[in-house]
Amino acid sequence: MDHRLIKNENKYYAQASRINYYDLVIESAHDATLIDADGNEYIDLLASASAINVGHTNEKVVKAIQEQAEKLIHYTPAYFHHRPAQELAERLAKLVPGSPKKVVFSNSGSEANDAIIKFSRAYTGRQYIVSYMDAYHGSTYGSMALSGVSLNMTRKMGPLMPGVVHVPYPDLYRRYPNETEHDVALRYFESFKEPFESYLPADEVACVLIEPIQGDGGIRKAPEEYMQLVYEFCHEHGILFAVDEVNQGMGRTGKMWSYQQFQGIEPDLMSVGKSLASGMPLSATIGKKEIMESLDSPAHVFTTAGNPVCCAAALATLDVLDEENLFERSITEGAYAEQRFQEMQKHYQEIGDVRMYGLDGGIELVKDRESKEPNPDFANKVIYYAFQHGVVMITLKGNILRFQPPLVISREELDEALDVLDNAFAAAENNQVIIPSNEKIGW
Ligand SMILES: Cc1ncc(COP(=O)(O)O)c(C=O)c1O
Repeated sequence: MDHRLIKNENKYYAQASRINYYDLVIESAHDATLIDADGNEYIDLLASASAINVGHTNEKVVKAIQEQAEKLIHYTPAYFHHRPAQELAERLAKLVPGSPKKVVFSNSGSEANDAIIKFSRAYTGRQYIVSYMDAYHGSTYGSMALSGVSLNMTRKMGPLMPGVVHVPYPDLYRRYPNETEHDVALRYFESFKEPFESYLPADEVACVLIEPIQGDGGIRKAPEEYMQLVYEFCHEHGILFAVDEVNQGMGRTGKMWSYQQFQGIEPDLMSVGKSLASGMPLSATIGKKEIMESLDSPAHVFTTAGNPVCCAAALATLDVLDEENLFERSITEGAYAEQRFQEMQKHYQEIGDVRMYGLDGGIELVKDRESKEPNPDFANKVIYYAFQHGVVMITLKGNILRFQPPLVISREELDEALDVLDNAFAAAENNQVIIPSNEKIGW
């Protein structure tokens, strides 16, 4: 049935808004289980792109949505007040330690990043933003200018928003011979400084926006030392330090925010979305009070931002993260999965790198471990086999398996999914996976 539904959909649904992997029409879902239009079950290793950290149709979140929908579906916070938005703003502000914070709501992660551009420019009176290659920050004109991950995300749509400078994100996997982590940190910090030494006056830079763990760039964490150097550089030059937590926040890595994986960092601005309201359209930009007071009304309003049903879902999601110990689960289950992937790495030479930060992993597949040349064909075979055997997983950058299950995934489900992946690696190695020739998989 899935194929028939998709064939019909293709008549009406424009291709620009989907990256095709395989034909899956999701009918319903609970916790880490998806059910398709034919009633087949799948274990979800994607959590709707890290938007369902507390699990699908979590009872508490569903109840909060239902109760709020019966009371008030929407009234725009652009003009009046409602309690779910008030309560959520206070809670989010208090969830970011350090000096007092304030919050603005938007509908998507992209818009939350647009707000970072607006507030950092307004507060500093400077125009330039430094962001990273391989980062994905969104699909609005502002956030796509900040991104650097896909040519089709800019092709035919220029000119983009001016004033953005991209620097390379540190890659600990592809090091030069004998390079230590310290060497890598210094090498990438030199690259970071290059624009500042040649054409970019530091006193004209409003902010540096970084994902402390890059998501679409392949789930990779910047070295601690590199992060500290960039953070210090920002402080020295009056540049705001902003983090994008849309993908990696909300408990994904075992901490509330992924920047907390680093020592002593307090971001000036931060964007949150995706799992904030368990996939309901809501995002937030949280920033130091004085920065968030630098724009006057109505510099950042959207009719449907801060929707009360979405805010109620977010409040319930935050409760569930705590009550169900999901931070702890991310750490323990992530460590378990890491060890199982490392076991598999011993058997399959295509597994070049296993990166795992809680239940948050990038498994990099290569042609061989010497050249580290990306192996997207192998990766496609692995995910296609997994799909055929009841496990939903996609790739990043073509050759990196994206491992981001709902944090509620049980050990049994994890084992079952990892067994399927083990078999998938073997089947792909033995050329036993046939992908239909009409399928274009991935980006
Ligand atoms: C790190 C990061 N920032 C921003 C976004 C954009 O969020 P949205 O798709 O909700 O606009 C994404 C989405 O994948 C993301 O991964």
